[in-house]
Amino acid sequence: MPSKDTPAAEQTGDGTASFGHEAPLSIDTSVAHVAPVYDYWLGGKDNFAADQVAGEQAIQAYPDIVYSVRANRAFLARTVRYLAKDAGIRQFLDVGTGIPTANNTHEVAQSVAPGCSVVYVDNDPVVLAHARALLVSGEHGHTSYIDADLRDAGRILTEAALTLDFSQPIAIMLMAILQHIDDAEDPYAIVSTLLGAVPSGSYLVISHPAADIETEAMAQMAEHLNKLMAEKVTFRTRAKVARFFDGLELVEPGMVRVQEWRLNTEREAKGPAALWGGMGRKG
Ligand SMILES: C[S@@+](CC[C@H](N)C(=O)[O-])C[C@H]1O[C@@H](n2cnc3c(N)ncnc32)[C@H](O)[C@@H]1O
Repeated sequence: MPSKDTPAAEQTGDGTASFGHEAPLSIDTSVAHVAPVYDYWLGGKDNFAADQVAGEQAIQAYPDIVYSVRANRAFLARTVRYLAKDAGIRQFLDVGTGIPTANNTHEVAQSVAPGCSVVYVDNDPVVLAHARALLVSGEHGHTSYIDADLRDAGRILTEAALTLDFSQPIAIMLMAILQHIDDAEDPYAIVSTLLGAVPSGSYLVISHPAADIETEAMAQMAEHLNKLMAEKVTFRTRAKVARFFDGLELVEPGMVRVQEWRLNTEREAKGPAALWGGMGRKG
């Protein structure tokens, strides 16, 4: 899915690339990065040779990754729609935004409830180069973008407070990002810091590649990605992903494969995606 309103990446021949950005960015394209690899799996155009090699090796190990990323995007859209429509949420903090594609968080939220505010956060320079496509301001709502690392939760919270009202409920979206925080970096503490800053009535939404679905293929894919990609991956079991929701009320149907969460169709629910997904409410 091509990104909208975004400058095309230009490879410069010395392993870097620049974008038609106000402040030109130089990006090392000799190493694969997760944002463009994910874009490659989604059929986008914002990826380079190293990303394509890593993406293809992953596909060879686990061919259903292509289905999985689409199922993950569909899960994102369903959760945002549920939050805006059924849970009355008007503020979103989406960390690990990815390169803009179809059904970005603000588009889904604002189509249901005009006036929603969305803060996007990512640490990838390619995503930063495309951030303008995410920024809207007006009666439909407000979006802003923070160039930051999830590990720096304190900074994310300080900068997000320039757009979001932390006295009102906020949905924290961590979609397919926590696998890039390894156990030694204590992802549970990071999530807990974010949750500690939002009031009751707020939500946490997570999707996370599984270590206990298609175990062998997923382990092989992780091995390939960890050799080729700058951001390493740690896939987790259902129990380990469920731990992120400790202390929250899990929204029905609980922690399930992403394609099974308030599914669109029975056929979709039977798809092969290997990601756990869930939503919890802070009481
Ligand atoms: C697999 S993509 C998922 C994109 C989107 N959330 C989705 O589910 O479709 C992961 C995104 O997280 C970003 N990311 C990875 N590690 C990060 C970190 N430590 N801090 C901020 N962003 C990170 C990557 O740059 C990439 O854009």
